Amino acid sequence: MHNDIQEVLLTEQMLKDKVAELGAAITRDYADKEIFAIGILRGAVVFMADLIRAIERPVQIDFMAVSSYGMQADSSGIVRILKDLDSSITGKHVLIIEDIIDSGQTLSYLIKNLTERKPASIQLCTLMNKPERRKVDLPVKYVGFEIPNEFVVGYGLDYAEKYRNLPYLGVLKRSVYEK
Ligand code: IMP
Ligand code: MG
Repeated sequence: MHNDIQEVLLTEQMLKDKVAELGAAITRDYADKEIFAIGILRGAVVFMADLIRAIERPVQIDFMAVSSYGMQADSSGIVRILKDLDSSITGKHVLIIEDIIDSGQTLSYLIKNLTERKPASIQLCTLMNKPERRKVDLPVKYVGFEIPNEFVVGYGLDYAEKYRNLPYLGVLKRSVYEK
């Protein structure tokens, strides 16, 4: 696995420090509130597992799985819900947890969909953001790292379902996906 990585973009220590920082900010902002954290499967799982342990507030967790129609690298903007929440978010303080925001189309759709369920509030926390690639305007409250437009894997993120278990975030060698 490690041989397929061209460059380590975010080390384990950088990830750990950032998770602590985000957890502290969320703890402050939700001082008198309980959080309903929604992880977007599957990429956000590793980040979410670390982040919720850095939040010193009551946190409920649930998950959604979505897929964009069409398998292109650029998502089409049409989103299908493959797994919905198990419980109601009406009146809850929702915090969506995502691994990376690219075009923003997946989350733009999700926020619209979740808002219809009348949560008390809805905010977005992403580990990484690729601002160059944004196609829709998206209000993101918590951003871990702004990263350049490169394909990254590890710490939950995959290429063809591989590399999710790398403990750091790396840029994949081009030879891996061009072969
Ligand atoms: P978008 O913001 O709707 O374009 O889609 C974001 C989703 O694309 C993320 O949740 C990831 O699943 C996937 N994605 C985008 N960039 C990367 C990357 O660099 N590595 C791995 N997955 C990525
Ligand atoms: Mg994802």
